[in-house]
Amino acid sequence: MSQLKLDLELRLQSHRFAAISTSTPGQPSSSGESNVVSTSSAEAALRVVWCPAFEVGRASVFHGDCLEWLANQSDNSIHGVVTDPPYGLVEYQPEQQHKLRRGRGGVWRIPPSFDGHRRSPVPRFTTLTASDLKALDGFFKVWAAALIPVLVPGAHVLVASNPLLSHRVALSVCQSGFERRGEVVRLVMTMRGGDRPKNAHNEFPDVTVMPRSKWEPWLLFRKPLDGRVQDNLRKWGTGGLRRVSSDRPFADVIASAPTRPDERRLAPHPSLKPQAFLRQVVRAILPIGEGVVLDPFAGSGSTIAAAEHIGYESVGVESDLHYLQMAQSAIPMLKDYEPSSDAGSR
Ligand SMILES: C[S@@+](CC[C@H](N)C(=O)[O-])C[C@H]1O[C@@H](n2cnc3c(N)ncnc32)[C@H](O)[C@@H]1O
Repeated sequence: MSQLKLDLELRLQSHRFAAISTSTPGQPSSSGESNVVSTSSAEAALRVVWCPAFEVGRASVFHGDCLEWLANQSDNSIHGVVTDPPYGLVEYQPEQQHKLRRGRGGVWRIPPSFDGHRRSPVPRFTTLTASDLKALDGFFKVWAAALIPVLVPGAHVLVASNPLLSHRVALSVCQSGFERRGEVVRLVMTMRGGDRPKNAHNEFPDVTVMPRSKWEPWLLFRKPLDGRVQDNLRKWGTGGLRRVSSDRPFADVIASAPTRPDERRLAPHPSLKPQAFLRQVVRAILPIGEGVVLDPFAGSGSTIAAAEHIGYESVGVESDLHYLQMAQSAIPMLKDYEPSSDAGSR
């Protein structure tokens, strides 16, 4: 299919329409479920029904803003979230994406090549202004508040972050009602930091401005439980994390090689996360292996592909049509991708 036709088809498929719930606001629907209309606000009776841009296997992927999408989902309909949001917010805004695609300016920079390999662009979070940081705090607060009703009690949420910004994201998410449940450390050589002072390399040869970063924080949260863990597991299928095996609990440090070039070729997204890592965390997010996993910042669909590989039902939302199209072709390939035997090493 030509690019233009695919573009048009995706636009048509993601056309959304308004549907008015037949329930009285604040009352359960005729099916007896209280999640059709969950608040006493008359506005809650108006739900926008979203059509997936595409479906593959057990996954549905939507085109749009995840805040809008979340606002229109039924309460208690998602059982776990694994996501890699725009860490600094600005780097995935259209203006910055335009600069990235033109290869000039903005928050994206090309790191120096290493061992003869051209490296992927990385956003510079040290350039964020006070007002960018305030916007970031506000965004994650609103995002977490929009997420909470859509999740079942005890659902875990795993959010990729960056050591310079993770404290702000964690605070905002907790202020919206989540419990912090620690963080998963992805041990990976990121090539960030470790540089000598700019334009004074020779003067200060023994100085490094920031540590060379060899890990990536993935923040772990949980929606408060409905009773004890065992009650919550019985009622909602959530509350804990799935063990690796009966004698191995899920652990919070995971060695992970950077995403390999052959995997990047399947999904050339600037923030592609590797399947070898994602499959471990996506598997863990549903403690009894039942329910729906959401990635509200789906990018090239790598979380969705990991869920497909495992056999979980999943839902993705992506606002950028270019990455949505990438996801449509990448998910089936990433699902079947076989990581090399050293994918766990840094
Ligand atoms: C860091 S990237 C995720 C990349 C993904 N981990 C992968 O492996 O492909 C974040 C993605 O979120 C998308 N995005 C940014 N703001 C969004 C929003 N409000 N709603 C939905 N998607 C959004 C961006 O276009 C971008 O593709």
